[in-house]
Amino acid sequence: MASRRYNIKDISLAAKGRQRIDWAFREMPVLGLIRKRFAREKPLAGISFAGCAHITTETANLAITLKAGGAKVTLTASNPLSTDDSVTAALVKEHGMSVYAVKGESVAVYNKSLLDALEARPQLIMDDGGDLISAVLTKRPELAKNVIGAAEETTTGVIRLQNMEREGVLRFPIFAVNSADTKHLFDNRYGTGQSTIDGITRATNILWAGKKVVVCGYGWTGRGIAMRARGMGARVIVIEVEPVRALEAVMEGYEVMPLLEAAKIGDIFITVTGDKKVIDKHHLAVMKDGAIMANSGHFDVEIDIPSLEALSRSKRRIRESVDEYTLKDGRSLYLLGEGRLINLAAAEGHPASVMDMSFANQALCAEYMVKHRGKLAIKVNPVPEEIDKEVARLKLKAMGVAIDKLTAEQKKYLSSWQEGT
Ligand SMILES: NC(=O)c1ccc[n+]([C@@H]2O[C@H](COP(=O)([O-])OP(=O)(O)OC[C@H]3O[C@@H](n4cnc5c(N)ncnc54)[C@H](O)[C@@H]3O)[C@@H](O)[C@H]2O)c1
Repeated sequence: MASRRYNIKDISLAAKGRQRIDWAFREMPVLGLIRKRFAREKPLAGISFAGCAHITTETANLAITLKAGGAKVTLTASNPLSTDDSVTAALVKEHGMSVYAVKGESVAVYNKSLLDALEARPQLIMDDGGDLISAVLTKRPELAKNVIGAAEETTTGVIRLQNMEREGVLRFPIFAVNSADTKHLFDNRYGTGQSTIDGITRATNILWAGKKVVVCGYGWTGRGIAMRARGMGARVIVIEVEPVRALEAVMEGYEVMPLLEAAKIGDIFITVTGDKKVIDKHHLAVMKDGAIMANSGHFDVEIDIPSLEALSRSKRRIRESVDEYTLKDGRSLYLLGEGRLINLAAAEGHPASVMDMSFANQALCAEYMVKHRGKLAIKVNPVPEEIDKEVARLKLKAMGVAIDKLTAEQKKYLSSWQEGT
């Protein structure tokens, strides 16, 4: 058994946490509507829910919504640096939830917290990166039979789960929330785009205008970061390995080149590939004195930190989220947020308005899994289209945006083939 129902930094931060959670909720109207309905209908009555997530004000609002629906909520961090300690205090003190997360915790505590969260014997799981699901399958396999289903929040987690499916180790149904259009088209692009720039700015206070910014990975997050860096006046270089995406970046007006060339000229490097050793010792060897590196991909493996350490003669922390590495050849390179996702390590993650949509998908998927328990395929399932469309409809409504409808004649035309030139 977990020795305590929670492990948080300081419960006296609860009032501050509540204010911050309420502030975020103002920008989460879709989740607000779902919360009202959940409070009435109790679709999750008695369900044990465990979430492995960045414990931010937005995650708190999802957790409160699930509790309103009747769930017993347990949360654990999905990254050692992404927890808001005032939020964990409010969730424990004012909402009676079990929370195991402290900003800056060690990897050992992080891993123990995953196991502590599993003591709740979850029937529903929400994961962000696949660590909690992995912990069930590898460390507490006997719990798998209790699990009605799990929903995965991010690209890296979905890739890990698809690999589990391929290897035949999945034991319960998964919903890939990241794959919903109302998630990745908005959260990954506009959320990561804005909050990554925010994190790097807060960490360094640099001026973006005129800087050469190298964005590694032109997926949904890379598109957002490149777009926002350009908007700040930076000269953006994109690095890709997929020809179609590289071509898209070229036609969008970015410079595209191999990282070994960009390494020599970049001022700021941002990795968002979901891959490992994207910036490795060969790139580190040719970077300019003073180059800054940050990662916004899920794990801290995109920048080869062991190689950076090996090339360095000393390292010191010069600002809260800035480590200066002095290399043996005399150059200084700067690593932000220990190579962990910078938008959460040095800022607050995505703005609430975009998490409104991601977490509306999470809440509706939780309800869907309970409603269809026992009938869901044990594989990585897409978010049902009706949920995706409903989230978009509600968000437009909340934003006061009306759209047109197809006429009966247009519907017929679009589903026929007979009419032509
Ligand atoms: N920081 C955040 O808040 C946040 C939010 C959403 C997603 N993520 C994470 O960001 C990462 C990227 O997510 P995404 O949705 O953009 O994924 P994506 O699959 O859409 O894009 C990743 C891109 O990186 C490219 N790539 C892979 N290896 C590369 C390499 N060695 N060099 C250059 N390019 C390479 C791929 O070809 C692909 O185009 C994932 O780890 C995801 O979990 C973080």
